[in-house]
Amino acid sequence: MWVVYLRLIVADDYDDMSRKAASIVAEEVRKNKKLVLGLATGSTPLGLYRELIRMHKEEGLDFSQVKIFNLDEYVGLAPTHDQSYNYFMFHNFFNHINIDKKDVHIPDGKSKDPEAFCRDYERMIDEAGGIGLQILGIGSNGHIAFNEPGSPADSKTRVVTLSAQTIKDNARFFRDQNEVPKKSISMGIGTIMKARMIILLASGKNKADAIAKTLEGPPTVNVPASLLQKHKDAIIIADKEAASKLTGKY
Ligand code: F6R
Repeated sequence: MWVVYLRLIVADDYDDMSRKAASIVAEEVRKNKKLVLGLATGSTPLGLYRELIRMHKEEGLDFSQVKIFNLDEYVGLAPTHDQSYNYFMFHNFFNHINIDKKDVHIPDGKSKDPEAFCRDYERMIDEAGGIGLQILGIGSNGHIAFNEPGSPADSKTRVVTLSAQTIKDNARFFRDQNEVPKKSISMGIGTIMKARMIILLASGKNKADAIAKTLEGPPTVNVPASLLQKHKDAIIIADKEAASKLTGKY
């Protein structure tokens, strides 16, 4: 038997998932104006970012002292590339809130010395006091950030090779599958597990298997998200479709 701390909130649909996540993020930002926020890219958190932008514009939610550390970036893509995660984050979130650009940290896909960059990234997170709240999506293979199945539980920020499944999943954003970069810089599972609070978002049927294994399977590096079972303050917010293969009572 193992102890599972991971909690689950089932949302009605994508918009409800996004609103529920935004209300937790907003509460944390209001409690601590200097919150260190870890963020993800991808389709899943877009609604969360839209709702946070609305809260900033309509309710004055203040990001002026918040610090950001993003999870990952494709190796080889410059920040100006429209499929880079840097471009995605500014375009979909940072350009629309009052964040100080100097407090935004995103791995540098064009770094000349990626190993040194990764070490510096870990150091910068530590110097900022560690991540207070980390937002995660989940891959259909259970990856978190770009920690693919088999990634060590204590891994740190490093260069990783994307799995064939992830390349296939992400091809939808590129003209063809061959254009999807094969490597990325990703925070490690160990880096993520050090965050004080974690929210993992999941939406849609193609995440249902991964969510079932994450919550109801044993914690294993073969399903990286399942390692969150050991985190003391992690919540999954899944919409009904993503939660549809769970068998337990929550
Ligand atoms: C992106 C990231 C990835 C995504 C995951 C799901 O920064 O860390 O782990 O969260 O691949 O992607 P979407 O949300 O596009 O289904």
